[in-house]
Amino acid sequence: MALTLTQEQGALVLTFPDGSTAALPHLWLRDADPSGFHPQTNERTFDLMSVPADITPEHAHLTDDALVLRWPGTAADSRFALDWLAMHAPGRRRSDPAAMPKHLWGAELGPDGIPRGDAEAIMNNDAALYDWIVETKRYGVSVVHGIADDKEAGMAIAERIGFLAPTNFGTIFEVMSKPDPNNIAYTAEALPLHTDLPNQELPPGVQFLHCLANESTGGGSIICDGLRVARDFEREDPEGFAILRDTPIPFRFYDTEFDIRTRHPVIVTDSDGAVSEICYSTHLADILDLPADQVSAWYAAYRGLTAKLRDPAYTVTLRLGTAQMIVFDNRRVLHGRESFDPSTGMRHLRGFYVNRGDFDSRIRVLARAHGDAAIGADSAAELA
Ligand code: OGA
Ligand code: ZN
Repeated sequence: MALTLTQEQGALVLTFPDGSTAALPHLWLRDADPSGFHPQTNERTFDLMSVPADITPEHAHLTDDALVLRWPGTAADSRFALDWLAMHAPGRRRSDPAAMPKHLWGAELGPDGIPRGDAEAIMNNDAALYDWIVETKRYGVSVVHGIADDKEAGMAIAERIGFLAPTNFGTIFEVMSKPDPNNIAYTAEALPLHTDLPNQELPPGVQFLHCLANESTGGGSIICDGLRVARDFEREDPEGFAILRDTPIPFRFYDTEFDIRTRHPVIVTDSDGAVSEICYSTHLADILDLPADQVSAWYAAYRGLTAKLRDPAYTVTLRLGTAQMIVFDNRRVLHGRESFDPSTGMRHLRGFYVNRGDFDSRIRVLARAHGDAAIGADSAAELA
């Protein structure tokens, strides 16, 4: 079949040689016209309100590799590359190197199944950095080993990805048993599985816990793939799943200096309806303030999810050693720890976060050079 161009009411229609068609509404074409973007910054400079809503090209034709058209009142043709149109026509989502299929896991992963990264390779080699962050994205967790004997070395690794994102605990937080704790993490007590800071409007994205000392008895780290638990919970109790998805509940952290509150549902879905995040912290869930007639159904659902989170079929326990750092998507993978006995030795983790958006950005930028050629080429070509 040959490539053809036809006119329809308000749109041009391309039929590609493979038989697929792309309707290109006139106003969409005007808004996407390459001439409407800043040549250096790639940002749109075209003002949508500067043209009528029913704008129509004066003429349009195909060349070997482009759709060429002329807008009323303009002196130059506009040119749309056909391979660009094949990828970006309305209804076709831009391909995203950071949106790879996720590997959902349970206890079968085991500590040895957690993806690993080598600190020296990550620091010195972009291909190794790319491989590591892609695996971290796929599994939601990884462990970096071989970190230099330097308190700052874990942060330097995180900064290979993006800026560290501060919270009310600072840019870094020192997890150790402290005399006057404002957080149960700063005691020697066990921490049940949780996500950090669901009381924040945007809970921290990727979390890093760099192990500076782990000499106490106890203190193992526990992780659980919230996406896997949510998927299984939905299959077993679709109504309970819908309640936790559709009911925002209050979360709160407060001490002498801060009082940070917001509402999130426990199971958060994205605009496509896929589970994107879990907000679960028994410490930071505020007094439940739902109308009385919703309370028992919500608790039934929440207890159902909590029972699954306590099912050993979903958890992996590992022991972090010095020179290691666990990295995980705080909004996907729940984490906790076993209690420890501070009289038996020092336990000190240094924590920090990088936003999910910055993490995904690094994947996309590295994919231009190191990813699947077809995916990386898309953005590389746009920047060329
Ligand atoms: C925390 C935390 C885990 C640990 O600080 O939020 O979960 O292993 N710490 O101490
Ligand atoms: Zn935590």
